[in-house]
Amino acid sequence: MRDRSRDNEKTDPQRTHDPNRGDRPVTRRRALELGAGVLAGAALVPDLLHSRPRSGLATQTDVILKRIPRSGEEIPAVGLGTWQTFDVGSDRRQRTALGEVLRSFHRLGGRIVDSSPMYGSSQEVMGHLAVETGLIDDLWVATKVWINGQAEGIRQMEDSMALLQRPSHIELMQVHNLRDVQLHLDTLEAWKAEGRFDYIGVTTSSERQYGAVAALLEAEPERIDFLQINYSLGERTSAERVLPLAQERGIAVMVNRPFAGGRLFGAVRDRPLPGWASSFDCEAWSQFFLKYILSHPAVACAIPATSDPEHLAENMGGGRGALPDEETRRRMEDVVG
Ligand SMILES: NC(=O)c1ccc[n+]([C@@H]2O[C@H](COP(=O)([O-])OP(=O)(O)OC[C@H]3O[C@@H](n4cnc5c(N)ncnc54)[C@H](OP(=O)(O)O)[C@@H]3O)[C@@H](O)[C@H]2O)c1
Repeated sequence: MRDRSRDNEKTDPQRTHDPNRGDRPVTRRRALELGAGVLAGAALVPDLLHSRPRSGLATQTDVILKRIPRSGEEIPAVGLGTWQTFDVGSDRRQRTALGEVLRSFHRLGGRIVDSSPMYGSSQEVMGHLAVETGLIDDLWVATKVWINGQAEGIRQMEDSMALLQRPSHIELMQVHNLRDVQLHLDTLEAWKAEGRFDYIGVTTSSERQYGAVAALLEAEPERIDFLQINYSLGERTSAERVLPLAQERGIAVMVNRPFAGGRLFGAVRDRPLPGWASSFDCEAWSQFFLKYILSHPAVACAIPATSDPEHLAENMGGGRGALPDEETRRRMEDVVG
């Protein structure tokens, strides 16, 4: 597989801390504090997550859950991206490996998967594997619309939902890179009202679009439930204006490029993890990177991509246990520079 560390998926051109709103990680202990003690035990995560019955109960008990401000729904903080990693076409060997990635993801408490019609065969591969593994109804599915024109957008969304094997309902539909955003938002609102999806989002991973994203969040925050944007120890600009704005407007933030496309691993190559990382249950660089993101009060989840089952297992550890405090976050920034 080619080195993707320099790539950025952007072929065309996102209150103060309140423990009772969406900015505090809901760990198992916190869930118990919140009165969910009756749920303590093996089925804690799915029971907290979903009001409708789901299959395949997870057995993870310290998965960090974050609350979506608009609805109060709680979601696991680490999801799964599919750009490039799931674009494997009909290659059986790679599909088998990705089936294992998806099974492990779910077994370790993951639910949120993110795709796009821009990602080649990724939607079809994800849909096929979700059915094959029996997980289709237990995933929280996000995809995007990425085309100009209303009729074209409708056709593309129908196609995407069919490919994802969720023809009548997915959780989140996003306008990819703000493409034809005003026009698509009208359609998305109508589809949301019909129950085709639960949430509406917009995405970017380009600093050039931050101004347009901020203008949209300022002007029409009620139309948008989710902002997907790049943020990591290697790409911090969104934390200056856009993340606080999203938090203030009650818009959940889904973080893309959590490893800066993989570049962060190169930045710390051959360096040992600082000893103090164990103070927030961190045992690997991938967890260091993810916990930095998840400890930002605006962030609801991060969606790292991987095609490697071992990387997947390591990444899921970034969504469990304690998170760093503000002082520790500054220290983490100094480590990467
Ligand atoms: N505008 C948008 O809407 C937009 C833009 C960008 C991204 N996204 C979404 O966000 C997702 C994540 O972003 P991304 O895929 O660009 O980048 P990323 O998640 O920051 O990085 C992915 C890279 O990190 C590597 N990696 C993952 N876990 C690792 C580990 N534990 N150790 C070492 N290497 C590891 C992966 O390789 P291996 O496969 O070898 O693990 C892959 O090369 C995308 O897949 C997509 O769903 C959306």
